[in-house]
This record gives sequence, structure tokens and C-alpha cells, in this order.
Amino acid sequence: MRGTHGWAEVSAERKREIIDAIVAGTATRGPVHAELDLTDRCNVACYFCNQQSLRTKEQIPLPRLSDLIDEMAGNGLRSVRLSGGGDPLFHREVLDVFDHLALRGVVVDNLTTNGVALTEEVARRLIGNKAREVIFSLNAVNAADYARMMQVKPALFDKVLENIRRLLAMRGESIYPSVVAQFLIDRKNFRSLPEMYDLGRSLGVDRIALNAVLEVPQESFEENILLAPEDREAARPYVETVLERDRDAGLLQIDFAISGWNEMLNQARAKVDAPAQNSYPTAPAFKDENAGCFFAWYTAAITGNGDIRPCCLLLHPSMKPLGNIHQGTMTEHWNGPAFTKMRDEMREVLLRRNKIEYDEKRFEILKPACVKEGLCWLKNMYFRGDQEFYAELAAKLDEARKREVRFIGTPKQMKRAAEVYLHTHPRVRQTLSADWLHRAYDWARNSSRPLRATLKRRLGWNLTDAA
Ligand SMILES: C[S@@+](CC[C@H](N)C(=O)[O-])C[C@H]1O[C@@H](n2cnc3c(N)ncnc32)[C@H](O)[C@@H]1O
Ligand code: SF4
Ligand code: SF4
Repeated sequence: MRGTHGWAEVSAERKREIIDAIVAGTATRGPVHAELDLTDRCNVACYFCNQQSLRTKEQIPLPRLSDLIDEMAGNGLRSVRLSGGGDPLFHREVLDVFDHLALRGVVVDNLTTNGVALTEEVARRLIGNKAREVIFSLNAVNAADYARMMQVKPALFDKVLENIRRLLAMRGESIYPSVVAQFLIDRKNFRSLPEMYDLGRSLGVDRIALNAVLEVPQESFEENILLAPEDREAARPYVETVLERDRDAGLLQIDFAISGWNEMLNQARAKVDAPAQNSYPTAPAFKDENAGCFFAWYTAAITGNGDIRPCCLLLHPSMKPLGNIHQGTMTEHWNGPAFTKMRDEMREVLLRRNKIEYDEKRFEILKPACVKEGLCWLKNMYFRGDQEFYAELAAKLDEARKREVRFIGTPKQMKRAAEVYLHTHPRVRQTLSADWLHRAYDWARNSSRPLRATLKRRLGWNLTDAA
């Protein structure tokens, strides 16, 4: 078992509801999955933390959390991901939160934690309630490096190891939860990759994730600490060693989001004859043209101060939240103007087969990563293996496109068709700058309005939205 961003818990009926709502441009009943950051507080201070700018002392009070879970479960919430903000297990009433989720039949799809507070009581609940996946962000391979990375006393490292071992021992033969040990590498510790792998093996976890510490926009880390493209060759022998050691077990989940590193990884795999493991499958029906994000019909992220956001990648304080759970109900927000606007924006991307330029005047909610190709891995990584879903989505979107993306139709329909054409013909686009085209389009539209209205009235040709 592994986390699926909740997709494994979604019924066929609910998937159909999502597709029908996308096509109709309406809302679903409510989120089926939620990223619930119980608190913005944390008990350690990782130098690399991508949530530093969110760090407050806040947590969602238990009564508000219980009401929220009740309300969302009533509208079909099936699963949550508990991450941060801060550390989810640092919520003062976290045991009650687990109990309330279980009471409402809401599955913990993923818990991502530094593991310092993963006590026996927490472990009992994770196992009893069949949590799907626990990721321990262990990050370092020994106490000294742990102290450096997490900026805490070295002794905490042993405590986390003890917590991992206890959870695994208590779980016994059960497959719930699947346990992942995650390590992060930078310039100071990448030579320890083989030891990281060995530690994961000796702990007996189900997967060993090796990733690089990534830059965080608007945060500055110690100079020269992050791995860069030019470190690739220095890392190669260590990468080859871990791939070799993993050949029999297939536990590695390895991905380096550094330019050129994944090519090196593939070469290393070929050299030591180690196939890619733990990657997410892609169904034949999944096509890039239908790969647009549909989170606005599926999920929401709620942070420790109650802000509601599209997902865990769009949490930065400079981005306006979609609402706050301390003001109004979740249902009101889900059907309110911000979510409606986000659905409109996502629908336009889907209708145009992802062939749309990012323009911040047009997109109030979506960010470049949501629209430009290849920038967001989250939007379909967990879903792209679902043959039935993507086959049905493709068929229904194609019907909608025939109706709504047309060279002869209303101005809105024609504009969509023209944009798709220009996107797929970059040389034409360069010749006709978008600005020129928009002005020409507006001019033609205004000056031909009486003619179009006449054609519509006399001949019934619907070239216009003119009366
Ligand atoms: C922000 S943490 C929140 C949950 C929890 N406190 C933890 O550390 O697991 C979520 C995940 O992001 C990872 N992370 C944070 N900053 C990162 C960075 N700059 N580069 C790569 N991963 C990062 C953490 O290691 C962790 O696995
Ligand atoms: S444990 Fe998680 S939330 Fe806390 S500082 Fe580290 S990465 Fe950030
Ligand atoms: S496209 Fe990616 S970043 Fe944008 S809302 Fe969807 S999941 Fe979040």
C-alpha cells in the first residue's frame, strides 16, 4: 500500500461526478480528499524547511477541526493527507484528531512527519485505523548530520529511529501503514547515500526515498550548500552503489530534481542493470491534452491558521488564500467565488487541451506552474494510471470541446479555438503578437457586430452572441 493523494479511496461514482462537474462547469459536492495541515508549529528547525515562511504558533483548534471533518465527511470526504505547515504530530490534540477521522470513516492517506512525536499511542491509531502511508522525514544518516540539518540536539536522531522501529514492530504482518524513510542530500552529505540506503534497509521500512534538498523561493540557505548540476559526476558513483544494493529488494524511490541529474540516474540504472522502481504508472488513456489539473473539483489544502488553498504547492503567504475556515463553512467556501473562479480557470485549460499561454491578468488563482507544461508533478502523478477515469474524461471533454471550442461560434468559443491554433503554431504566434491579435479581434468584433446580428436574425447563422 502507498499513499495515492486519496485516489484509491474514490468510488467510480464519485469519479464520474468529478468528470460531469468539469464538463458542466459546476462544483462537486465537496472535496473528496483534503490536505489538512493541523498546525503550523514545529518542534525542530530544519535549515532547508520549505514552510519557514508559514511558520506561526497556530494550530486548528480541536472543536473547529471536528466540525470541519464532520462537515466535509457529510459531503463525501474520504481521505486526508496530514503534513505541514509545521509537524502534524505537534498538534496538541493529535490523538483526538486521529480518533475523529476514524469515527467519520476518513482514511489517513498519508502522514508526513519528522517522527519525533510518533509515540506508541500514535502508532496504535495509525495501525488500527489502517493509515495508508507514513513518511518519516529522517533526512540525515547519523546524529551529527541530523543535528546539522534539523538544528536540534543530536540525541533526537536516536529517538526517531526508535519510533520507526516501534511502529514497524507493532504493525507486524499488516500492510497498514506503509512506512517510508526519506533522506535529503546536499553538498555536505551526498557521499553518505550508500549509508542512507543501508540504514533504511536495516530499519526494515517498505521504501527508501532519496531526494535532494531543493531551493525554496524567497528563502536563503547557507551559500553553496545545495547540490547543483555540476555536482552530478561527483555523485554518480554513490548513486550507482545504491542502485546496485537495491537490485534485489526494489525499495528505492529516487528522484533528483536537479537539471541533468535524472539523466545521470538513468545512465546509472542502465550500467548496473537496475530497473526503475516505485514509479507511478501511466494508463494508455492518459493523454497530455487531458492532463490539466482538476484539484478544484477534488481537493483542498487547509493550513494551520485555517487558510484554504488549492494544494500544498501553493502555500506561500504572497498568494492570496481561497478563504479561511474560521470565516464561514467549508461548503460556503467550496461554492464561493474563489473556488468558482479556480474551476473556471482550470476548465479553460482543460477545454484548450493545455494549449494556453500563462498570463497573470487572465489567471487570478492559478500560477504559472499550474498552466505551463511540465512544471507541476502533483496534478496528475497519482491519477495518471487510472485507465477508466482518463478514458471517460477524454470522451466527455472531447464532446464539450466540440461545443465550446469553435472557429465559428460565439466570440468566447472562437477565441478559444484561435488560442489553441496559435499555441500549436508558434511561428504564426510570433508573427501575430497576442496583443496585436487581441486588438484586431476586438476591432473586428465591434465593427462587425451589426452584420453578425443581421446574419443571425435573417439566416439563423450563429456567428455571434449579438442579439
Ligand atoms: C515541510 S515538511 C512538513 C511535514 C513534516 N514536518 C516533515 O518534515 O516531514 C514536508 C516534507 O517536505 C520536505 N522538505 C521540506 N523542505 C524541503 C526542501 N527545501 N527540499 C526538499 N524537501 C523539503 C520535508 O523533508 C518533508 O518530507
Ligand atoms: S520537520 Fe518539517 S516542518 Fe519542521 S522544520 Fe523540518 S521540514 Fe519544516
Ligand atoms: S496544477 Fe499543481 S500547483 Fe496548480 S493547483 Fe494543481 S496541483 Fe496545485
